Amino acid sequence: MTDPDTRSRILNNAIRAPSSHNTQPWIFSLAGDDINLFADRTRALPANDPDDRELTISCGCALMALRVAAAGEGCGTRIALLPDKDDPDLLARITLIGDPESGLAPLAPLLAQRQTYRKGFDGRPVPEDARDALIAAATAEGAWLVPVEDDADRHKAADLVARGDEEQWGDPAWRRELAAWMHPRRTGDGLTLPWLTIPVAQLVVRSFDMGNGVAARDEELAEHSPLLTVLGTEGDTVADWIAAGQALQNLLLTGVHAGLQGSYLNQPVQVARLRPELGKLTGRPGHPQILLRMGYPEEILPLSPRRPLKEVVENAPGPDRP
Ligand SMILES: Cc1cc2nc3c(=O)[nH]c(=O)nc-3n(C[C@H](O)[C@H](O)[C@H](O)COP(=O)(O)O)c2cc1C
Repeated sequence: MTDPDTRSRILNNAIRAPSSHNTQPWIFSLAGDDINLFADRTRALPANDPDDRELTISCGCALMALRVAAAGEGCGTRIALLPDKDDPDLLARITLIGDPESGLAPLAPLLAQRQTYRKGFDGRPVPEDARDALIAAATAEGAWLVPVEDDADRHKAADLVARGDEEQWGDPAWRRELAAWMHPRRTGDGLTLPWLTIPVAQLVVRSFDMGNGVAARDEELAEHSPLLTVLGTEGDTVADWIAAGQALQNLLLTGVHAGLQGSYLNQPVQVARLRPELGKLTGRPGHPQILLRMGYPEEILPLSPRRPLKEVVENAPGPDRP
């Protein structure tokens, strides 16, 4: 049986996982050496993510982070994905058992170094071996990662990002939802965007369509990012979304190991109409899940907040648990 301090350290590291709008849409329910990972749908984003696809990807990130954190503590993990067909919120049951998964322990200290870097990266290109390691990290978790390298394709991807921005910012419900997660009184979750100052930001985001300005900025970021990649999966089911999340976390940590950070330009995946167009750019069948730019950051930014463990961890009820 893993001692409570070790388990707390593992969970504290796991919750450093990224999540859309920093919603942290996860609950960990403890039962002996089992940790049940539940989707917390009270933290869903109906305008941005109507199918809970990104919510599930975020939980997949937390699952991978937990596996890595356990390995860092010398613990192995046995994972049952979607173990209860009557409970779609129960995404995974993790049993802390046996030897650490090979190759994961060196990634554990990097969990607290990974951060979403929304600024422009420095100009250095990403070397081929680092790029190949990112691809391998995604493949190892059952997803694929396709770099958008050709100039014409990159231009098309940047155009899709700009069109996605214009569509999202033109939708008052989407803006209200974003503004709600930028609330100045939020403490353990939510977003700060470097180019907007809270609390003015929240008011501005809620009230004005800034689509044109944001689109121009994002288009520029997409065009000039050292590495632009599409993370995708063969299918588009809950299991695929969990795989995408695990792959995302794995590749982000692999990137940090090489000095890289990542940032998201997911608009052409979030706007359903644009998703097949992004898919075409990858030149392969399957479903784009994340559009990610990666590069060398110019500075270390303050880490984004997390809710305290006591808010995301609960004890499973009694021995009759499912
Ligand atoms: C599935 C998923 C989708 C995301 N989509 C976006 C996005 O479209 N734009 C963005 O700026 N950040 C996006 N993020 C990054 C989150 O906002 C970020 O992880 C969160 O604010 C926590 O910050 P951190 O990554 O620095 O720890 C996404 C993260 C995940 C896991």
